[in-house]
Amino acid sequence: MNSIKIYLFRYLKKIYRNIFDIIFAFPILVQFLLNNEIGATYNYGIVKKFKLVNRLKRNIKKVPTESTKLEHIEMATSILKVPASVEGDVIEFGCYKGGSSVNLSILCSITGRKLIVCDSFEGLPEPNEEDKVHYNLYTNHYDYYEKGRFATTLDEVKSNISRFGKIDVCEFIVGYFEDSLKSLNKKYIFSFFDADFVESLKPCILEVWPNLQDKCRMYVHEATSLTLVSLFFNKEWWKENLNSPAPGFVGSGCGLPLKVVTGSLMGYAQKGSKIN
Ligand SMILES: C[S@@+](CC[C@H](N)C(=O)[O-])C[C@H]1O[C@@H](n2cnc3c(N)ncnc32)[C@H](O)[C@@H]1O
Repeated sequence: MNSIKIYLFRYLKKIYRNIFDIIFAFPILVQFLLNNEIGATYNYGIVKKFKLVNRLKRNIKKVPTESTKLEHIEMATSILKVPASVEGDVIEFGCYKGGSSVNLSILCSITGRKLIVCDSFEGLPEPNEEDKVHYNLYTNHYDYYEKGRFATTLDEVKSNISRFGKIDVCEFIVGYFEDSLKSLNKKYIFSFFDADFVESLKPCILEVWPNLQDKCRMYVHEATSLTLVSLFFNKEWWKENLNSPAPGFVGSGCGLPLKVVTGSLMGYAQKGSKIN
């Protein structure tokens, strides 16, 4: 009898903890599961979304990644919100070992889109003076960068995506963005930049922004780096290079509040005016 009580107590405690996590620590998860707009045109209801979240969470543990499960759920939300009728692919700048690419490839497979994975596969380029150190005002933390950090191989990334994601939707663009991105000539519904440097961000914005569909987003994993985020507010740079107003950046300085009490490293710039 006692062992049944202990089992029941542990079981209830687990349920209680899960409910507590969902309601207080993971508001984004609740939004993802309950908002009908997310996944509507792909026939993705609450049950399929629940299974998807578990798959994304499992993959995070299998392939080393610099991004978190909540950030992956935020990206899933953004991709599944874009209606199927809007044409375009998903593009990722900076994949490291493919931890984020694995999950993005699953989302592309669900939505019938291609995932364009861009990386040098030689790690970071030589940082210029501005990129050697980034200051994070929110956490009062300095990030130091050096050439070759995050080096990996194309084969390793392909193997990780083949094992845990969907390799058939992927296309790989190998090389430093400054050279490799010229004339891709695609349309995009989502972009994820996770390559640390302002100098690396510039060619990516030049590729994505003119080809990003209306109300779609360019996510950036350096939201807390004021050095990097300030480019999205630089009116002169946007006017001169894209003849467009600077879009600003949602989450600049402290990242999107994916948990109730803390920010994250992720933020975004959205094309078009209405933030939804
Ligand atoms: C922080 S890691 C990416 C982490 C990955 N998105 C994740 O969530 O696990 C940064 C990546 O950006 C790539 N990278 C940085 N600057 C680059 C550039 N200018 N051209 C090409 N690749 C670059 C590096 O090779 C590295 O793989």
